[in-house]
Amino acid sequence: MADQPFLPYGRQSVDADDIEAVLQVLRGDWLTTGPAVDAFESGLSSFTHARHARVVNSGTAALHAAYAAAGLGKGHTIVTSPLTFVATAHCALWMGADVRFADVDPTTGLIGADSAAALVDSSTRLIVPIDYAGHPCDYTALRALAEKTGTTLVADAAHSLGATYEGDPVGTLAHLTATSFHPVKPITSAEGGAVLTDDPELDRRIAQFRNHGMERDPGRLRDQDAGAWAYEVQALGLNYRMPDVLCALGLSQLGKLESFIARRQELAARYARDLEDVGGIDLPPTAANTTPGWHIYVIRVQDAGRRRALFDRLRADGLGVQVHYDPVHLHPFYADRGHRAGECPNAEDFSSRAISIPLYPALADGDVDRVVATIRAAAADLL
Ligand SMILES: Cc1ncc(COP(=O)(O)O)c(C=O)c1O
Repeated sequence: MADQPFLPYGRQSVDADDIEAVLQVLRGDWLTTGPAVDAFESGLSSFTHARHARVVNSGTAALHAAYAAAGLGKGHTIVTSPLTFVATAHCALWMGADVRFADVDPTTGLIGADSAAALVDSSTRLIVPIDYAGHPCDYTALRALAEKTGTTLVADAAHSLGATYEGDPVGTLAHLTATSFHPVKPITSAEGGAVLTDDPELDRRIAQFRNHGMERDPGRLRDQDAGAWAYEVQALGLNYRMPDVLCALGLSQLGKLESFIARRQELAARYARDLEDVGGIDLPPTAANTTPGWHIYVIRVQDAGRRRALFDRLRADGLGVQVHYDPVHLHPFYADRGHRAGECPNAEDFSSRAISIPLYPALADGDVDRVVATIRAAAADLL
């Protein structure tokens, strides 16, 4: 196997069109905020049907901006799941709020409305579901919960751009949707992210937050007699601007999102067929009312005690398997804040058995054959 290429769990698909789109911007007048920002935002808005899209320079910045727009602050809490990248929780702490971790469904890894509801009280401002692995959560139940409790629903859709729930696209399912364009994500801009919303006031706050709280619209300035140069700083904010160069890449990629997802779905279907009878592992389920984006393909080892051996063997055999994720609440920083094992038993169990196997649009059919054969052989030896 030594001469075979390493197959990562995920990777970008960047082609000559994408490179040309970036070069065109580099040859032009704008490197940072310019026409490619507007073009990418319009493209995201038409693709997702969200009325507003604002790009920022990472998925983390998108979450931070969404939390700020929703008014999260000191004394507040958010309810989210621990089966996520740490940014979902960290951004709440940066806003001075605290995080409560709700447990997930044992087979999908998705937050349940009931487990979230149990943690909501008068301090709760946001409920933040994670569309883990590209599978949209149960937004009907989550929207009902948000409405009942007067909370804002912020979807962490870093994994799920391009997926749908009951026929509606990700981007329209929550009050605010944050997504990421990191290279392993559904589309990439190297680094980048976006916040999608139908609410013009939330959108305006995001536009300010990503640019130091600056307002340039003459109609919105407090000083209506201001000169043509004027801007006012009307809020706290940061430099979370996404450069034109990267927006050009993002926009070019957006044109391929449907075909990327179609390929991911084909690959997931192959795994579902070819790994179904492998003893000792469980495959990911798909809810009937969603079209998942299959950002990652996570198998679960039935005996958690054998996960490490299988993982090490697959790595040794050239598969760039990964674990998504060690639960956020068990990382030392969160443990030091009082979080403990046992807080979210399903998420902890899910995590202890999870292995993400290679899945990305450029994975060839022959590569899939190799992944399947490698997992079959390893499972036969070890499980
Ligand atoms: C679920 C989730 N949320 C947030 C993020 C943060 O996105 P970024 O890496 O673009 O800052 C990621 C990316 O890894 C993620 O997977």
